[in-house]
Amino acid sequence: MNILYISPEIAPFAKTGGLADVLAALPRAVARRGHRVALAMPLYRCVRQGGFDLQTTDNSIQVPLGQRWQPGRWLRGTLPGTDIPVYFLEHAEFYERDDPASGAGLYQYRLPQGKMADYADNSSRFIFFCRAVLEGLSGFDFWPDILHLNDWQTGLIPVYVKKIYAPRWSSKPPKTLLTIHNLAYKGLFWHWDMPLTGLDWSLFNWRELEFYGKISFLKAGIVFADLLTTVSRRYALEIQTPEYGCGLEGVLREHRGKLVGILNGVDYSVWDPRHDPYLPCHYDVATVTAGKAECRRVLHQRWNWPCRERTPLVVMVSRLVEQKGLDLIQQAADEILRWDLQWVILGLGEPHYHQFLRQMQNRHPQKLRAALEFNEPLAHLLEAAGDIFLMPSRFEPSGLNQLYSLRYGTVPVVRRVGGLADTITDCTPETLAAGTANGFCFEEYTAHALLEALRRAIWTFRDHPDIWRQLQRTGMMQDFSWDRSAAEYEAAYRRLLAGNNDESGGRNCESSGH
Ligand code: ADP
Ligand code: GLC
Repeated sequence: MNILYISPEIAPFAKTGGLADVLAALPRAVARRGHRVALAMPLYRCVRQGGFDLQTTDNSIQVPLGQRWQPGRWLRGTLPGTDIPVYFLEHAEFYERDDPASGAGLYQYRLPQGKMADYADNSSRFIFFCRAVLEGLSGFDFWPDILHLNDWQTGLIPVYVKKIYAPRWSSKPPKTLLTIHNLAYKGLFWHWDMPLTGLDWSLFNWRELEFYGKISFLKAGIVFADLLTTVSRRYALEIQTPEYGCGLEGVLREHRGKLVGILNGVDYSVWDPRHDPYLPCHYDVATVTAGKAECRRVLHQRWNWPCRERTPLVVMVSRLVEQKGLDLIQQAADEILRWDLQWVILGLGEPHYHQFLRQMQNRHPQKLRAALEFNEPLAHLLEAAGDIFLMPSRFEPSGLNQLYSLRYGTVPVVRRVGGLADTITDCTPETLAAGTANGFCFEEYTAHALLEALRRAIWTFRDHPDIWRQLQRTGMMQDFSWDRSAAEYEAAYRRLLAGNNDESGGRNCESSGH
């Protein structure tokens, strides 16, 4: 099969979260299964300045955007270490404005008083992206059978394929698969952006593009894509409920026949303590204790922290947003910091969380370190140096960090939700006996429940080293590699091409056994 992956971010070119990691790994795994793959994303400033080998192509396009034509051009690179083509959409005004030093990100920028705001022209930027992919399609390496889309930034593509481009193309129109990585980002814009899309106003109705008086690019994708996937089985069910559906639960229930949950995987060539280049030493399941001690020593030395061996090191690596349970952290922090532990939080996000964490660090400089930055090497070192990985998410479509933690022997403490529920088995006498326990879970979204789970973890770490080693061993031996997920995506692609994706007859996430 010929598959073109389209995403607003792909590691190592541009990354704000797990989406980029997924797009770096899944196409590789699918290519290993014998398919032709290519990728497309915007050419941000960080890509231009990232030292990547970018070649110009003669694939220049004119894209209608409202009343005007916007010129664009596709540049060509490859996924590092492969010959898999990556196409970058060049439009300097739209995409080359990110600058971490001044708080300008891929989708948002920092206001003078510190708050983050969406760029006012995000609708134009991603309408342009969606149409530019389709305008440039015949100039890529191959004509795709499948367009694999990711998140709201690509949500209009299925609409364009069906309403505008399919009738124009002489080749067979590709099928569209949209992966929802995070339903909370709906791509909402005011209705007067409708003319910018070039789509007919008749689509602006509650069953298609409209969401409470606005346009939702994600809803557009949900309605028009031929197949929908999301990144864990549990999340595929949760998003059909009012609690987790972000207002889209009705439309998702309506389209449940084409919704499949496929858990993310881990790229173990990047995330494995046996060969992780960011670590001062390497370790495996036999040498985990010594390996972790050395990584921790290096971390402590860097910050001039006292190194106390039996004191657990709790780590978090996270976007600092509500999704990740930061309000629970705020409520629980005083109590946690009364305990004998050390705690490192690496993250970037909302300014009020930054302020809170800075204050806590000032009060407890020997116990809490808040690294408020995006730092890939430090993320790896923390996975290796930590004893406990804390992930108290309010919701979590899949989550990658708990999977990385398992491989690094860092025992996850998580809320039982979404992908966390699908991957972490709470430590109880029964699960220990069954050999499935690999972490600690709590159910209710309360500080009390979080504290109880963390307390159990610390008690086990300190008083039951044998059980702790069993938890580490179970986690380190588990295999969440992309090969397994890629096989499931391959089945989904085949289902699409077989035309077996009609919504009434198709397998859905409840009955398919995914
Ligand atoms: P999400 O995509 O919701 O942010 P995931 O767990 O799927 O959550 O993926 C998060 C990814 O982003 C991981 O690779 C994690 O290491 C990385 N990450 C998040 N924040 C930072 C940070 N401040 N510095 C470095 N890496 C980070
Ligand atoms: C989103 C989700 C996260 C998931 C990632 C990659 O950002 O928040 O849970 O792992 O996408 O699919």
